[in-house]
Amino acid sequence: MTAEKIKELISQMTLEEKASMCSGADFWHTKAIERLGIPASMVSDGPHGLRKQDEKADHLGVNESIKAVCFPAGCATAASFNRDLIYLMGETLGNECQAEGVSVILGPAMNIKRSPLCGRNFEYYSEDPLVASEMAGALIAGVQSKNVGTSPKHFLANNQETRRMTVSSNVDERTLREIYLAAFEGAVKKSKPWTIMSSYNRINGIHATESKKHLTDILRDEWGFDGYVVSDWGAVFNRVEELKAGLELEMPSSNGENDRKIVAAVREGKLDEVILDRAVERLLTIIYRFEDNKNENAVWDLEKDHEIAKKIAEETIVLLKNDNNILPLKTDANVAFIGKYALKPRYQGGGSSHINSKKVTSALDSVEKYTKVTYAQGFDDKEDVTDEKLLAEAVAVAKQADVAVIFAGLPDSFESEGFDREHMRIPNCQNELIDKVCEVQKNVIVVLHNGSPVEMPWVNKVSGIIEAYLSGEACGAAVTDILFGAVNPSAKLPESFPIKLEDNSSYLSYLGEKNEVEYTEGVFVGYRYYDKKKMDVLFPFGHGLSYTEFEYSNLKLDKTAMKDTDTIKVCVDIKNTGKVAGKEVVQLYVSAPTGTVIRPINELRDFAKIELQPGETKTVSFTLDKRAFAYFNTTLDDWHVESGEYIIRIGKSSRSIECEAGVYIESTVRVPVVYTLDTPVCDIKDDPMAYEIAKPYIQVDEIMGDSEEGDAASEAISPQMLAAMINFLPIRGMISFSNGKISLKDLEELVDKLNSLNK
Ligand code: BGC
Repeated sequence: MTAEKIKELISQMTLEEKASMCSGADFWHTKAIERLGIPASMVSDGPHGLRKQDEKADHLGVNESIKAVCFPAGCATAASFNRDLIYLMGETLGNECQAEGVSVILGPAMNIKRSPLCGRNFEYYSEDPLVASEMAGALIAGVQSKNVGTSPKHFLANNQETRRMTVSSNVDERTLREIYLAAFEGAVKKSKPWTIMSSYNRINGIHATESKKHLTDILRDEWGFDGYVVSDWGAVFNRVEELKAGLELEMPSSNGENDRKIVAAVREGKLDEVILDRAVERLLTIIYRFEDNKNENAVWDLEKDHEIAKKIAEETIVLLKNDNNILPLKTDANVAFIGKYALKPRYQGGGSSHINSKKVTSALDSVEKYTKVTYAQGFDDKEDVTDEKLLAEAVAVAKQADVAVIFAGLPDSFESEGFDREHMRIPNCQNELIDKVCEVQKNVIVVLHNGSPVEMPWVNKVSGIIEAYLSGEACGAAVTDILFGAVNPSAKLPESFPIKLEDNSSYLSYLGEKNEVEYTEGVFVGYRYYDKKKMDVLFPFGHGLSYTEFEYSNLKLDKTAMKDTDTIKVCVDIKNTGKVAGKEVVQLYVSAPTGTVIRPINELRDFAKIELQPGETKTVSFTLDKRAFAYFNTTLDDWHVESGEYIIRIGKSSRSIECEAGVYIESTVRVPVVYTLDTPVCDIKDDPMAYEIAKPYIQVDEIMGDSEEGDAASEAISPQMLAAMINFLPIRGMISFSNGKISLKDLEELVDKLNSLNK
């Protein structure tokens, strides 16, 4: 339907009808207006499968939904670092939605993994905003290529489950921009989601649903979002103000309650009807974007899509450790599979994303094509209690094998939507099982099923570790193919695994006090913190092994100096030096020079995934613009690059940098500074134009005596001390230390001159 027709339709609607469009008819539908032929539009949960429900609806995954395919969850898809693959997942989901008449799939969930403890981390992508934005962006683009909408969620700074409907995430502006908004920004700009879901929480005291700054000023005006904003289910609390702020759709239904408030506000002159019309226009635009592009011939096939889920799962499983190439396993080895998850894998998490899978492959089913294994359950995951009988059986099975593969991880009671984890451990009974097996078997491999980092007290006792994440219903087959080498692992960690929870930068402030959470770590989330602190981690961000080796060489930048308005091209050669074909995730980090703001050591600015045959070399190229070097300057209210030498680092992980090269960047933007008599000399020196003007006024004879700046006047007074005395001297200090050469009037004049630079 054209924009004109939509406007015409709105002009025929009564005030009540318009208000009624702004909330759901029920749990999953918008309201129809039969008189005008406006259809109801169905939205459905996902995002790693279709949770389409019929009559019995809920947002916690309690009631049944249709049989569907469970693809790998966000934690796993991020680990693939493969945009094309996740685009394919999106296309597949989009087709399923078309076949099921679903106009919008509610996802991707793309909040930053601020702490390993967030209960919904399994749905989320990364601790890094670029990874979250790029991978979620690929999913959005894939779904929408089928003319079905997405709803990236939960906008914004929804990083915990505890008190999620009332808590305030108190985050400074720079951190919001560089980390929490950035996770959404690229995806919104590039993939143009049809809708966005605003979160339950407050942001710096204001409900996300009512934050005009985020829903309108940034999302629409800056990033160009042109769809509708939907509330998270039950997030609405102040309907009229939320409509003004840019929240078009309330979900689910409020049984007419909030529609009446909208009508009353218009009648009482408290809400301009133009705002309501605009909201309805945005809603109808998306509703008809789906209606007009319905694919009546769309069909989907559980089997076919299961195979796609398998293909995706293969690239989401990370090989963390492989001592003495214990993997891949030989088919003639006497292998024991131990652990409940070998039989019943934990392949997805609980809550609104829970998919009703028709078919789940376990490692135990899938291994039959390779060899016959012995099996022992080892533990139960209903409660964290060691079952001595299961433990003894497992130890006996492990003892008679050549190699023991233990399938461990987090049970649903440890990790789910709705609550946060209390610690970073897997159940003690599983840790005990791994320990006991290691006592009788030297070849132990642990396969982990979890959505977020876990502590691994046994890390040095086992020879191999596979992070299988929650990689969907085909995970058993994918893990088995990796164990036996039919698939070469190629995933990398989209998050750091700290050694212990206390190492995480949000440790002191996570969950906060009652309804207030201070994001005290600022931009130092994940590896940005561990790297800055030079801390050892269990496994670093970006880490993941392969059954082959890759050699990096020939890093080339197309320039060594540039302005912040230029772009730079970076090329690097990657060679597969091993014996099997493999895929590598080439990671580009930028390291900023020391300047006036505190910045991380490394920040991921791009990545590429390439496939190489043995002996093959490929050149990977990246183009970086200003944003790759910038931080968010709150005075400019814009991205800013300070002049200096930036290092471009190419690596296999954040801690395995293979080559690097520098580029000098000259800033073309002067950051305005408000000068006062209290401004210290060092701040003037940071501003070259200001320093030129101020030099004649910096008269410090009484500090320097006969010495020059930098010389030691006597043995006890170091040049460093003298320099510091001058640097930290405020402008007004010249009155006391210039031997009467500089007067207050002179300094007031200077301050005026300096401030005139801002004009
Ligand atoms: C969740 C959303 C979900 C919605 C509908 C909410 O509780 O936070 O992610 O899409 O329910 O089920």
